[in-house]
Amino acid sequence: MKPTLEAVAVSTTFADAGGGRIAALDKVDARFLPGQLSVIVGPSGSGKSTLLHALAGIVVPEEGRIVSDAVDLSTLDEARRDAWRLTHCGMVFQDFRLIDELDALANTLLPAQFKHVRVPTALRQRAQSLLTEFGLPARSGPVARLSRGEQQRVALARAMLLDPPVLLADEATASLDAENGQRIADALLAVARTGKTVIAVTHDDKLSALADQRIMLKAGRVVTAEQTQA
Ligand SMILES: Nc1ncnc2c1ncn2[C@@H]1O[C@H](COP(=O)(O)OP(=O)(O)OP(=O)(O)O)[C@@H](O)[C@H]1O
Ligand SMILES: [Mg+2]
Repeated sequence: MKPTLEAVAVSTTFADAGGGRIAALDKVDARFLPGQLSVIVGPSGSGKSTLLHALAGIVVPEEGRIVSDAVDLSTLDEARRDAWRLTHCGMVFQDFRLIDELDALANTLLPAQFKHVRVPTALRQRAQSLLTEFGLPARSGPVARLSRGEQQRVALARAMLLDPPVLLADEATASLDAENGQRIADALLAVARTGKTVIAVTHDDKLSALADQRIMLKAGRVVTAEQTQA
């Protein structure tokens, strides 16, 4: 099967405090198939978020390519990458990146604002039903007043709003109790089973156990990439 998204020999560095460079990703190869839930695991600082950002076209790697359906993202300028992301990817950031003053529904509807002058009723209903599915309380009010776990679920609802072919989630169950963590893990697997490509960075064994592919990073390198028999 052809991958939806592929990292080919991707390397990138960041400046460290001492004026040197550290390799955040070092010749990373990874392939992500439609219909599969892949997890990226590894110790803190191993490059998981950096890889996810590269796959989303947010970080352009210094070397190597990110290929989406034969398009090499690194050949696109920032505006084209933004446009690509809007139609191809939903992203849950590790730090959520919600707008504190807006309520859960308004945050969930943000991607729709880029596409529509007036948000269609169907999308408004989808936003509400995602929030309900994820067990969020119906009360509104600024998301800044929600718990971290609630904010995390708003971030996932927002990422899923436009039903993107690729869903990228950075620690999407990290702030959740067992029950809500399981609910979100099941939701990510269900999205994959509708034919989407789901890629989740996680430390969560329950989510990891559901995955079709497990990629382990250490110090910016892929140490194992295994298809699992889930
Ligand atoms: N914007 C940045 N500027 C400088 N260094 C960075 C930046 N982003 C990441 N790094 C460094 O790159 C390496 C990989 O970071 P990354 O955030 O990808 O790790 P991670 O595996 O997601 O860790 P965690 O599990 O703690 O979220 C780390 O050494 C980190 O300090
Ligand atoms: Mg991270």
